[in-house]
Amino acid sequence: MRIDDPQILAALPDLGIELRAGASMTEQTSLGIGGTTDLLRIRRQERLPELIRLLKGGGIPHRFLGGGTNLLILDGELPWVMLQLVRAQPDVRLEGNFAYIDCAADLGRSVTFCAKNDLGGMEGLIGVPGTVGGALRMNAGAYGTQIGSFVREVQVYRAGDGGIQTLRGSEINFEYRHTSFAPDDIMLSVKLELPSKPFREILQGIRICNEKRRASQPLNQKSAGCIFKNPPGASAGRMIDELGLKSHRVGDARVSERHANFFVNDGQARAADMLGLITDVRERVHRAFGFELEEEVIVWKG
Ligand code: EPU
Repeated sequence: MRIDDPQILAALPDLGIELRAGASMTEQTSLGIGGTTDLLRIRRQERLPELIRLLKGGGIPHRFLGGGTNLLILDGELPWVMLQLVRAQPDVRLEGNFAYIDCAADLGRSVTFCAKNDLGGMEGLIGVPGTVGGALRMNAGAYGTQIGSFVREVQVYRAGDGGIQTLRGSEINFEYRHTSFAPDDIMLSVKLELPSKPFREILQGIRICNEKRRASQPLNQKSAGCIFKNPPGASAGRMIDELGLKSHRVGDARVSERHANFFVNDGQARAADMLGLITDVRERVHRAFGFELEEEVIVWKG
């Protein structure tokens, strides 16, 4: 979708918006899949409500793009413009055991920054790609740690009433790869409370998690992390592996040889290839094990 209304185009610079016309989502997503659209990069979070009012007034649908690391977007000219926050500088501020983090900040870098200041707890999250906002939305987790446990406050734009609100951690439900945020909420900044720990100890934990991840996940290939959630008491990766589906492919979308719950873009995969592979694997797992696997990756089909 292209913005061609001259009034909207003229208003964008005043709102602190950088317009990247016809941006390709292959460059904005870790899967390297997705069509083209106008990308609006937001430098001043406080102007977000005005921007969204403007787009609504002009009848321009929008979607919010975080780090693009857990996302499968359809191909071709997209039916929405994309909004993306530009990281504040600095993006992490510490006060005692509290870390105030901009949601556009990179999760791994934020974990490292806190670690260097003797604030730990998030060692398991170090290799999870994406932004802090994306991690919050999904309640990202790895190696026994979920980000939700540290959240004390989140500043969020709520499309429902069109305003910016601060929610207390206790008002948000954090579950396994799921939160109570509305789908169109946009996370702006977060206050985490982290336990004090000497840097050297945190570093040791980080190294162990990195090793485990390197040994079991295809880190150098284009993927969106795990495609399916684990059903209660079972492992999606193990079931797919047991069916002999490693390397199984539809077009250039392929089940990783290293971890069967990672589907990689092995060349020029199209969204249809990846969706075809997801459907095929889901059906096979259902027939063999009786589990209806639920996608963990967020799919934007239209
Ligand atoms: N397994 C296989 N074959 C495979 C993959 C896994 O047999 O191809 C077996 C493993 O040997 C192990 C079990 O399945 O016995 C579980 O595998 P793993 O420890 O790799 O964990 P997972 O359940 O597949 C989860 C998260 C990952 C997270 C890791 C580490 C989900 C869907 N996945 O994977 O998160 O990094 O634990 O904590 O919860 C993500 O969210 O995108 C993600 C990658």
